[in-house]
Amino acid sequence: MCGIVGYIGNKQAYPILINGLKRLEYRGYDSAGVAILNKEIKIFKKKGKVSDLDDFVSSKDVSGTVGIGHTRWATHGEPNDLNAHPHSSMNNHFVLIHNGIIENYSRLKEKLEDRGYIFYSDTDTEVLANLIEYIYLKGKVSAEIAVRLALSKVVGAYGLAIICKGEPDKLIAARKGSPLVIGVGEGEYYIASDATPIVEHTKSVIYLNDDDVAILSKDGLSLKTIKNDKLTPKIHKINLDIGELEKNGFDHFMMKEIFEQPRSILDTFRGRVSLDKKEIHLGGLYSVMPKLIEAKRIIIIGCGTSWHAGLVGEYLFEELARIPVEVEYASEFRYRNPIINEDDIVIAISQSGETADTLAAIKLAKQAGATVLGICNVVGSSIPRETHAGVYTHAGPEIGVASTKAFTAQVTVLTMMAIALGYEREIIDKQNFDSLINELYNIPSKIEKILKNNSQYLKISKLFKDSTNFLYLGRGYLFPVALEGALKLKEISYIHAEGYPAAEMKHGPIALIDEKMPVVVLATKDKSYEKIVSNIQEVKARKGIVIAIVSEGDTIIKKMANHVLEIPETRDELAALLTVIPLQLLSYHIAVLRNCNVDQPRNLAKSVTVE
Ligand code: G6P
Repeated sequence: MCGIVGYIGNKQAYPILINGLKRLEYRGYDSAGVAILNKEIKIFKKKGKVSDLDDFVSSKDVSGTVGIGHTRWATHGEPNDLNAHPHSSMNNHFVLIHNGIIENYSRLKEKLEDRGYIFYSDTDTEVLANLIEYIYLKGKVSAEIAVRLALSKVVGAYGLAIICKGEPDKLIAARKGSPLVIGVGEGEYYIASDATPIVEHTKSVIYLNDDDVAILSKDGLSLKTIKNDKLTPKIHKINLDIGELEKNGFDHFMMKEIFEQPRSILDTFRGRVSLDKKEIHLGGLYSVMPKLIEAKRIIIIGCGTSWHAGLVGEYLFEELARIPVEVEYASEFRYRNPIINEDDIVIAISQSGETADTLAAIKLAKQAGATVLGICNVVGSSIPRETHAGVYTHAGPEIGVASTKAFTAQVTVLTMMAIALGYEREIIDKQNFDSLINELYNIPSKIEKILKNNSQYLKISKLFKDSTNFLYLGRGYLFPVALEGALKLKEISYIHAEGYPAAEMKHGPIALIDEKMPVVVLATKDKSYEKIVSNIQEVKARKGIVIAIVSEGDTIIKKMANHVLEIPETRDELAALLTVIPLQLLSYHIAVLRNCNVDQPRNLAKSVTVE
């Protein structure tokens, strides 16, 4: 949610900033801007994508070795040139970019207006720029002090990069609630919302914590808290390959990421699940394993696709480990005064590790004394640092805004955890344990097989690309997959879609079914197969169009459904990992056929760092 990039050193800043913004564009893409300091501070900003900014800037002088850049996902003020970042203070002493929300901005704005400040944009960020400048001029203090004092008056969340005209050899970064990473080079520093713009320049990074302020110059870095306590920076080495950030011949990141799943799932369980020894080792959970084994209840929290993965987790933990599970939207959990006990295990699931509601829910659960675990993809992000223990999904960077490989990686981690716990709790016997491990190892090649039928999905997508509604039905483990399939279609093709438990259809959605309504039914051979066959009959009786995802060799549904897509059979517990692939392909092709921007769908952002 908004991407931030900054540079100070001996190189030209603009190429570094614009490339960095392209890498961060998944975080927001309604406007973009840069500010370059070269005696004066020059600001260039534009509504639209980073490429529009680059075109706009092509004939301008952008030389300078200090600069900041921003790609925006609007919170305050509609996307236009004026509201785009960077924002300048009224007397042009400060220019800053911001990710987050200043919650008390209207009160601060009124006070500044009383003192003669005029505002040109609708943003909360301009208020902050003016507040810093007001303190700087009135108090005759340094830029750093002005920033720290201003931030002590702010309620809300921010990741900030700030330039001060009077102190041109410095760049100031500050963080509260919105992620910021500092890249440490030779006589140069980088600032970014995540490590992706930094990795091509340096592998040494410092993750800022809440309330940290970093003052960067070519000669060094000083790190302190807002209250002026000195901190010792901790340098981490990142292990991210630049190739993982490219499309590698695919038209879209989303398609690349769909096709990566055989590999990414393997990466998630490789080294953790031993096929020979039939063992599961989750190193990140060792310290909490005794608590997990004794758990009376697990609460899973997440948002969007991660919440759907959590629902699959509910079925897994309850079935394999017999531990009661509740799955909660982080945004509801944090505000509804939930009952949290000290012996509860809370599992937060998040691809980005930065989702604001999930982070806030974690803090609440920790305050209540629960043990909080994280299942995250982005190494070093806020959630893994905020939780007691956890497991990284190791799916590699996910750039497409619609989540695909992160979902299957999250489900893989939940599966490993549930199998391990079920065995430790003596719910599943050795034979069942071994059989689950064997089948987990078969999943990547079974996904390969589904992906080989990609052309079939394109063919069906052509038939339904102009539909205005879709219904997705599933039962048991496949109910969350139905929700995820509907979400994928909505997100990238803008077709209205609903996911439903197949039996629940009778209690409402059945009224929508007519000869125009495509109904995607997840009807693989599992324990509710007979029931789902009946549900298909109910749809057919109302002239609905059934697109059924079935197990290879199915003959019964083939006779009833209008379209049948076969996938390999697997155990019920692992079926979500296979059945979601056809739904990802279907939504991808439909969106491309409708000329939608698959990787950057309208109004969405990959990482939602505001509540
Ligand atoms: C956004 C993304 C979704 C994602 C959700 C949760 O809405 O567009 O794809 O599922 O945030 O994100 P997280 O990073 O916490 O998994």
